[in-house]
Order: sequence, then structure tokens, then C-alpha cells
Amino acid sequence: MPDTLVPTRADSAARRDWWQNAVVYQIYPRSFADTDGDGIGNIAGVTSRVPYLARLGVDAVWLSPFYPSALADGGYDVDDYRDVDPRLGTLEDFDTMVTALHGAGIKVIVDIVPNHSSDRHAWFREALASEPGSRARQRYIFRDGLGPNGAQPPNDWQSGFGGPAWEPVGDGQWYFHHFAKEQPDLNWDDEEVREDFKRTLRFWSDRGVDGFRVDVAHGLVKDLSEPFAPWSEVSVVDRPDGSHPLWDRDGVHEIYTGWRRVFDEYDPPRFAVAEACVHPSRRARYASAKGLGQAFNFEMQDAGWCAADYRKAVDSGLSQALESGSTTTWLLGCHDSCRVATRYGLPTEVGRTPVEVARDWLSTDGATPMLDRALGERRARAAALVTLSLPGSAYVYQGDELGLHEVGDLRPEVLEDPIAHRSGGREKGRDGCRVPLPWSAEPAEGTSFGFGPGGAQPPQPEWFGRYAVSVQAEDPDSTLSLYRTALRLRAELDTDDSFAWLDSVPDADVLCYRRSGDWQVVANFGSEPVALPAGEVLVSSAPVVGGRLPGDATAWLSVPGA
Ligand code: GLC
Repeated sequence: MPDTLVPTRADSAARRDWWQNAVVYQIYPRSFADTDGDGIGNIAGVTSRVPYLARLGVDAVWLSPFYPSALADGGYDVDDYRDVDPRLGTLEDFDTMVTALHGAGIKVIVDIVPNHSSDRHAWFREALASEPGSRARQRYIFRDGLGPNGAQPPNDWQSGFGGPAWEPVGDGQWYFHHFAKEQPDLNWDDEEVREDFKRTLRFWSDRGVDGFRVDVAHGLVKDLSEPFAPWSEVSVVDRPDGSHPLWDRDGVHEIYTGWRRVFDEYDPPRFAVAEACVHPSRRARYASAKGLGQAFNFEMQDAGWCAADYRKAVDSGLSQALESGSTTTWLLGCHDSCRVATRYGLPTEVGRTPVEVARDWLSTDGATPMLDRALGERRARAAALVTLSLPGSAYVYQGDELGLHEVGDLRPEVLEDPIAHRSGGREKGRDGCRVPLPWSAEPAEGTSFGFGPGGAQPPQPEWFGRYAVSVQAEDPDSTLSLYRTALRLRAELDTDDSFAWLDSVPDADVLCYRRSGDWQVVANFGSEPVALPAGEVLVSSAPVVGGRLPGDATAWLSVPGA
């Protein structure tokens, strides 16, 4: 990794590459804000909170799916790609939201789910009503079962959410699903499937959407030729060579070349970011200018709270940016992972990442005693100042700007995640990071903390009130105030892509780096205070006393002439 990247940033407000260093706020629409009292957040709820988003200072929002859906997988089971779930609103509500966000200078990114539809999609219903071998079945992945009457699945492959990856349809055929059985995989060898997704991209682009987050971008193209490899082989996914029959096959890039042509029909061109869980050496291709444009870098989300892990994650992200010719992305959490404040507040275990520790904590206990909330919040604040100070885009998951914790002890009957259902309750799944946001400390409206007049699903715990926006907005030391300050400063300071490691604080627990202009960052992953280099402290995640930065803290400095 070279020490310094070449500055490339242009400063026009209407840049074609606005996304390259954007702060993108992820909205999980069902748990963001509810205006109609059904306990499920809606599009009008997003519109009502545009002033909050503008005050926070984000450049864009990414909306997780809001399409008609049975919510078998939180909306990632899409019934109709070109409509809004009636429980969340209408297309007119969507247009109003886009206008309001754009009016506040905020771009809009929507989630596209091309790997699978829902089993309620018109195409899948037609496939079920049609004969084996029919045209309707070609849009999905149907195969004959084995044994008498096809009573056995075509092979022993398992789905990502647990249980077999094949579901019988009653006539000797089975369909393939990577995820829940309500999410049949589409057949991307089919020309109509390919053309229809381009129609969807144009549909939303024509409505003013600025970009797309592409779900499971590495899964569309599959090699299902027979004989099938056994599951013992197929379950090894982390391959650097594109040889896996289901993931990251080279053919997928041909699809994105076609999508790029669609994006480039618009001015500015539409943007896309890939969720591609692939070997880091293969991620750059998804992010290239000929492909989707950017790809998520999950290394920081998986990092342990230590200087070595963070340095590795930064080096890896910046190398990928160089390789792809794009910028990389930094994120600490999303709707699929245990909240960052909780991950960093659980005891560390040698040889295991915080993600793994949190998964076990959730499935075995999920109650508070093991969790040091204050420590987790302190580290999450420090981590935020790292991710927000790196070249590239920063993605912030809703509620992380409040330092929210995972709700680890949701009752089994309120769990919605198919992971919880398909594991027979052995795993809690992802609902604990999807509990609706607390907007006000007093549960004045119905039973929720300002989320909406009709309660919240899954229910908010009592302690959520302490994290409410109304409490934090007035407190200069709150995590919300820290994010607001950091985002304001970032907009001023982040003027080019330069980055260089420094050794101004020689301590194995400390990372120091220089960014654009006079901007320097010191992150202390240890528990002892360290002396900061001479300079002006612009913002810090914990109070700097006598020029010393406490443990588990990050500071941004202005060091002229360094
Ligand atoms: C992605 C989404 C996740 C969803 C899965 C299947 O990984 O982020 O929430 O369950 O795809 O669509």
C-alpha cells in the first residue's frame, strides 16, 4: 500500500461523481418513522424526517426495500419491483419523498434485489401454475427431484438461512433458493429476466432516484450443470478464482456492463454499490467504472477493536480503491449485523472477532450483564471518527448516530427474521438491530418512543428512551452531536483523496494518519491516555485533557505545516 494517494476531488456541487466520498445514511424504512399508526414505518415517515437528515449532514440516503412484500425476509422478498408496499405508502408518496430529499440536497439510493424475487411475484405464481419445462418455469431454477416421483431434492445443497436450498412444488420438480423458501432464485440466463431488470432500473431512475444498492450482487450467475458437486465442496465459498458454482462467477460482470449502459443514459449517470461478499482480491471488478461503480468493503465491520485490525482494514480498502479506480466504502454496521456499540461492549475472546462473539451472545443470552454499554458506546464513537475520516464513502446505519445498542432479548414471538425461524430459534437473527428508532424520550404517542402513534414492531425496550433523538439533539456531548459535528467538519476538510500513515504517536495501540490539507487523525485503541501531537483539536470522541487523548478515543486535529 503506497503511503499517499493522489488527490482527485473536484469541488463542483453538481458533480457527476458525487457518490465517491458521500456520507450515505441507511434507512430501514419499516423501522425509521411511522406516520399512520400501524407500527410499521412508512415513506411519509421518511419525508417527515428530512429536516433531521439535513441537520445530520448526510449526502445521501439508501433505502432498504420498500416494495410490496410478505416480509418473509424484511422486504428482501419482493413481490413487485416497480411499486411501493401499500403498508408503506404509494408511488406518489415516494415521489414526494424524493422531492423533499432532493430539496434538502440529499441524494436517493434504492435497494435492488435481483438474485431472487418473492414467491408471490407474478412470475413465480405463473411458474407454479405451469407445467414442468414450460416457459414460465425458465425464469426460475427448477429441476427434477431424485428418486421415485422426484421425492428427493436434486442435491444436498443448503440455503444461507438454514435448511435445504430446494423446495418441492408437488409435481416432482423442486426450485432453488439461496435464502428463504419464499425467495426463489431467478434464472439470469433468461433474456426476459435480464431485460426486465433494466426496465426496473429505468423505472426508478426516471422517478429521480440517483443510485442503487445491489443486493447479493455476486450471486446472479450460477453453474448448475450436472453432476452437481457435493455440499461439502460447495459450502467452501471464499475462493479467489471464480470457480464456485453459485457465487462470484465471471459471467455476472456481463450483466453489470449492461446495467452500466442504462446508468449512463442519465445525466448525471446513475450510481450503484455492490453488496458482493467475495474474496477481497475479486471485489475491485464490481467497483470498476465499467461495472457498478462501488462495492461494499466489510473489513471494518468485521474488525476487532485494535489498531492492527483497523490498519489492515484501511490498507485493504484503499488498495481496492486503487485497483478498481473507484473509491472504497467504510461501514461499521448495517441491517444484517449486530449493532456496533454492542459488538464493542462485549468481552473480547482470543481468536474470535466481535461479530462472532456477538452472534453467540445473541443466541445464548442476549441480556445485558455481559455487555458493558458505556464501553461499547465509547468505542463506537471512536470508530465513527475513524470511518468518517477516510477517503471514500462512509455508510451510516440508522441509529448508529445515536449510539444505539442491539436489542438482544427480543421475545421469540416478536422475531421476524427467517434466520430465527429456520434455525428453530437456535439463532436470534437480525431483528435486534432493526427495532424502530426512538425519536422522543417520552412514549407520548401510543406505546412508542416517538416512532409513531401506534406502537413499534418489534417493540422498543424501556431503555431506548435514553437514546432518543430529542434527548441527544440538545446535548453537545451526545453521540448525535458528535456525528453532526464530524459530518460538518468532514464536508469542509475532505477536499481530496490523500492519505498517509504517520508515526507521530509511537504506540502499538495508536493509529495516526494525515488526510487532506492540515487534517490529521489519531485513534487510540488502548486503554491508557496518549499525548497528542501539537495542533488544534477539531473534534474528539472523548474529552482531551492536558493534550492527552484518553483510551478508546479518536481525535481529529488541524496540524498546519506538518
Ligand atoms: C442481503 C441483505 C439481507 C437479505 C439477503 C437476501 O444480504 O442485506 O438483508 O436477507 O440479502 O436478500
